[in-house]
Amino acid sequence: MAYFSGKLAFITGGSSGIGLATANLLAKQGCRLVLFARGQDSLDKACRTIEAGINKAFQRVQSISMDVANDHDVQQKIRTAVEKFGIPDLLINSAGVSSAGCFENLSYDQFDQCMKINAYGTRSTVSAILPYMKQKGSGHIVNISSMAGLIGMFGYSSYCTTKYALVGFTECLRGELKRYNIKVTLVCPPEVKTPFVEKEAASLPREARVVKSFAGLLTPEGAARAIVRGVKSGKYLVVPGIMAKSLYFWHRVSNGFLTRMPSDLIVKLVAWRSGK
Ligand SMILES: NC(=O)c1ccc[n+]([C@@H]2O[C@H](COP(=O)([O-])OP(=O)(O)OC[C@H]3O[C@@H](n4cnc5c(N)ncnc54)[C@H](OP(=O)(O)O)[C@@H]3O)[C@@H](O)[C@H]2O)c1
Repeated sequence: MAYFSGKLAFITGGSSGIGLATANLLAKQGCRLVLFARGQDSLDKACRTIEAGINKAFQRVQSISMDVANDHDVQQKIRTAVEKFGIPDLLINSAGVSSAGCFENLSYDQFDQCMKINAYGTRSTVSAILPYMKQKGSGHIVNISSMAGLIGMFGYSSYCTTKYALVGFTECLRGELKRYNIKVTLVCPPEVKTPFVEKEAASLPREARVVKSFAGLLTPEGAARAIVRGVKSGKYLVVPGIMAKSLYFWHRVSNGFLTRMPSDLIVKLVAWRSGK
């Protein structure tokens, strides 16, 4: 409990889903928060929701509207946040968007937009916060990738590209930032029941829907508990959920055979059932 007491966390994507649930849990454990997302209305709503569950005399939940896909905006807003609220102990990069659909149906712009938010967005917040954490001599950066950053999936070529990029980026950061006493955690959740899943439903191929279910479904609160536990224990890789953990284990030990084989079978079965 005491671990987060009085600590300051910056959370991108803090107005919804995994970011919001993590913010809520951290606030309950004594953390001060600054939430970032584009929509100010949803940020305000998130702040009110979180503040309703804490003692406002000691803790404040602040928010700043910021587009992680715009590097200039990120550099400026992070600087403002540090000047106003201090250097954070924790940066959680949860801002992200989905982009489902088979590659042949995805435009360059869709691919580009997903890359700019999920991969470059995280790159920008890390680059903006790094000089401050180095100056402070400590910090913890948490990047939310996905199971789609560990296992390639049917119908997710653009999203997987961005999440695999985050896995590589985070792994490199871990090694480079250790000497500055800055910890790094990579989080790879399976499907989590958030607005993100509702938004992607319309463009998600049927095959992908079935393949995805192998990794299990979590609540945002369940994912947040795993993230907070992982941060507290200084873990590098956090894969929330038993099903996701075991799927990743079998994927690695079989060199991908045990995930590719059922996926290919499902794709064939769906094609057969729809008479293709
Ligand atoms: N839900 C899942 O199944 C799942 C599984 C694995 C990993 N993830 C990852 O977990 C992270 C959070 O996803 P979620 O499910 O919590 O999604 P969500 O409920 O849709 O929340 C996404 C958050 O990111 C913000 N955001 C999106 N684009 C942004 C931008 N350009 N600049 C700043 N903020 C932006 C959104 O606010 P605004 O739109 O107002 O900006 C919102 O606060 C994402 O990185 C996602 O890839 C999700």
